[in-house]
Amino acid sequence: MDKLKDVLLTATREAGKIILHYFNGDFKIDHKEGVNNLVTEVDHLAEKKIIEVITASYPSHSIIGEESGEFIQVSDYQWVIDPIDGTVNFAHAIPICCVSIGVLYNGSVIMGAVFNPMMNELFFAEKGKGATLNDRPIKVSSKSDFKTAFLVTGFPYKWPENTLEHPVKVFERMVLEGLPIRRLGSAAIDLCWVACGRFDGFWEYNLSAWDVAAGYIILLEAGGTITDFDGQIGNVYDKQTLATNGLIHRDMLNVISRRESQLL
Ligand code: IPD
Ligand code: CA
Ligand code: CA
Repeated sequence: MDKLKDVLLTATREAGKIILHYFNGDFKIDHKEGVNNLVTEVDHLAEKKIIEVITASYPSHSIIGEESGEFIQVSDYQWVIDPIDGTVNFAHAIPICCVSIGVLYNGSVIMGAVFNPMMNELFFAEKGKGATLNDRPIKVSSKSDFKTAFLVTGFPYKWPENTLEHPVKVFERMVLEGLPIRRLGSAAIDLCWVACGRFDGFWEYNLSAWDVAAGYIILLEAGGTITDFDGQIGNVYDKQTLATNGLIHRDMLNVISRRESQLL
């Protein structure tokens, strides 16, 4: 496990150096699906470096990278990489973005690292060993009064059908609770900031495994709770993410699943 941790942290820090080097500088920006879903040359450079570091030590492990796709091998281990989570922020020189790498063993996340080099904040967790921020143990907040909770969320690029869980409707219901809500633009940072107690809860629809893999284990190891919008415990591939300090989880589930008729 120590070698796995070393490789994970080396890959994370190396990618962080690349991100910091280009931050607020010149780089090429392209568009993925949709005009506002951006990717920069720095995303590609960082992911290339991460994959180089991983394969140098673990050539037989499977790897899923947001920008380069899947390298599936016969292995119990799978690395899930988001070279820059918060690319739109990065492209606009907003220092809320990070590298996020999770390691899965037989489909369950066992280790994760999230590094925001602009703030010099490195979050790390290993299953059963707690979570840290710059080597100091972190834990979720102790807020149990939902009426005074501080929340964060995000919006997907692709919108679902007009369902009960439609992101705008859920957002409206949360706002009507009179709660302060932020939208930072990096799901990995959102999860870590719940893990270290800055926020009490986070929800988002339609995230990808690379957005949440590292933050998932960091949040759990910090004492948090993460489920889908029905309260079911799942995995990093879930399309609904509700992550809280545990104490306000039921309240958030109630708001997310409340029917319009119940508001009358
Ligand atoms: C995005 C961020 C954002 C979330 C989007 C993600 P990217 O990741 O995590 O907070 O709302 O759904 O796609 O594109 O910057 O890696
Ligand atoms: Ca992402
Ligand atoms: Ca990304």
